[in-house]
Amino acid sequence: MCALPPFGKLWIMPRPDAFPEFENLRSHGKELRQSSLVDLVNAPRRLKTMQLEAEGIFVDMSKALLDERALELLLALARKQGLADGIRAMCEGQPINNTEKRAVLHVALRNKSDRPGFVEGRDVMPEVRAELSKIEALARAVRSGSWRGHTGERITDVVNIGIGGSDLGPRLICEALEPYWNCLPSPLVRPHFVSNVDGADLGRLLKGLRPESTLFLISSKTFTTPETIANAKSARAWLCSKLGEEAVARHFFAISTNEREVARFGIDPSRMLRFWEWVGGRFSLWSAIGTIVAIAIGPERFFELLEGAFVMDEHFRTAPLEHNLPVRLGLLDFWYSTVLGAESLALIPYSQLLASLPSWFQQCAMESNGKGVDRDGFPLSYPSASIIWGAPGTNSQHAFFQLLHQGTRFVPCEFVAAIEPSYDFEGAPHHVMLLANMIAQSEALLLGKDLESVRQDLMKEGRSTEEIEALAPHKVFPGKRPSTVILMERIDPRHLGALLALYEHRVFVQGWMLGINSFDQWGVELGKRLAQTIVEELKGAAPPSAHDPSTQALIARLRNKLKDLLQAKSGE
Ligand code: F6P
Repeated sequence: MCALPPFGKLWIMPRPDAFPEFENLRSHGKELRQSSLVDLVNAPRRLKTMQLEAEGIFVDMSKALLDERALELLLALARKQGLADGIRAMCEGQPINNTEKRAVLHVALRNKSDRPGFVEGRDVMPEVRAELSKIEALARAVRSGSWRGHTGERITDVVNIGIGGSDLGPRLICEALEPYWNCLPSPLVRPHFVSNVDGADLGRLLKGLRPESTLFLISSKTFTTPETIANAKSARAWLCSKLGEEAVARHFFAISTNEREVARFGIDPSRMLRFWEWVGGRFSLWSAIGTIVAIAIGPERFFELLEGAFVMDEHFRTAPLEHNLPVRLGLLDFWYSTVLGAESLALIPYSQLLASLPSWFQQCAMESNGKGVDRDGFPLSYPSASIIWGAPGTNSQHAFFQLLHQGTRFVPCEFVAAIEPSYDFEGAPHHVMLLANMIAQSEALLLGKDLESVRQDLMKEGRSTEEIEALAPHKVFPGKRPSTVILMERIDPRHLGALLALYEHRVFVQGWMLGINSFDQWGVELGKRLAQTIVEELKGAAPPSAHDPSTQALIARLRNKLKDLLQAKSGE
């Protein structure tokens, strides 16, 4: 196989299996899987080595299934694999996305220093700042009411139409920072999101909106994503049916890298906010893709979000590997997924405001590191990223925690919480209950409950011997189940920016350790392309093409049913 030409390559990125440390890690991992996590937690210096803090984010890995020896080996492997050079290469704008020959410079979007950000020898910072000014101007105009709708009404609702990275990041931030929406004296401008091509997504939202006071932001890096274009066309038809074609100029903005497609859609380039090829979709929330955030919380708060990310970038860029938060978390991810073979990581925010954190991180981690070949196209001989899933606590305790406590799978957990509450009710201990539950779950996962303690409890309840013997095994908690706790001071723009930048960089670290390109996503292409043909076949506009028998039958069945539905409707 021919390796892709090294496009200005100034770094080396070997695979982990090129070094003896990887094999040592694997055999050490086998030993640790057999050992007692409780003993590890009780080890001297445990808290000192396994708790870290930076930029208002505290990471407690003291209940992780990782000891000092494993940590040493991981750091040694990271050094052999040139992780520090990798971090530098990314921050310097080198084209580390080798299959697309692109730099990966989302850090430039939040660069608050006067350092330049070079892409192919050109400083992109002036363009970044110019675009930030445009975001600010639009946010101010909408919030102040100086930008009005076609009929002269104030804008009260903004709808972001986008999918994947053009949806998940701004959606998460708008939800998380809901307490900041109503920054008086500006009246509330409500943010909304439409992503799914399922008409129910747009249809349900439009039922509650008035075109006169609604602004649409069509967010798409490529401006060719079929779901987004379909939703944008339907939103435009809804608007125009009520206000006429001319209204588009006051109610539609585009956010994209692709001016030609924006113009083709019918949005004048003067109403386009730009970003660049070197911003990956899933890392784009800091760019104009975050415009809806700036409108919802105000540009000052949006800049605080960027500032929070910037301080985490600085930490990532400068802290030694052993004290570096994203490095330590990325190495833990690599350790769990690749060395210990964990199939998944359960991400549980103990915060309703962070309910969308698992979905956002799912894309960030799984689209980045769910790969099967290394940077040069050679198959991996080890597992890549694990599955990220989760839902907020305490709700998830009443849904899937049963499996986490007593199931047969190895599922490391990660809990995230804010120390300060965002909502408080006088005399009601909601936040203390929330935090207590998180701590209790991490302790229960660790300590479990053995057979003897269960028997004692049942005896105290006055159960018979037969009952005790029948019931006891069902009430045993094996324990020794690892978890990590991440605490942020509070959910404000700055800390949220720092948290999300931490998550982005840990994905980079994991990808670097895996020896893969974390910044392409070819795996989403095939299904996308097939869908284009199948749409025509379902509509009956094209004869069925060659499919496997199962697909063929499914298409035929649905095509006939849809035809019947259409006929029934036209006969009504
Ligand atoms: O799912 C593939 C993907 O390309 C993501 O990487 C991206 O975030 C999403 O589609 C949306 O792409 P676009 O912003 O170009 O519409």
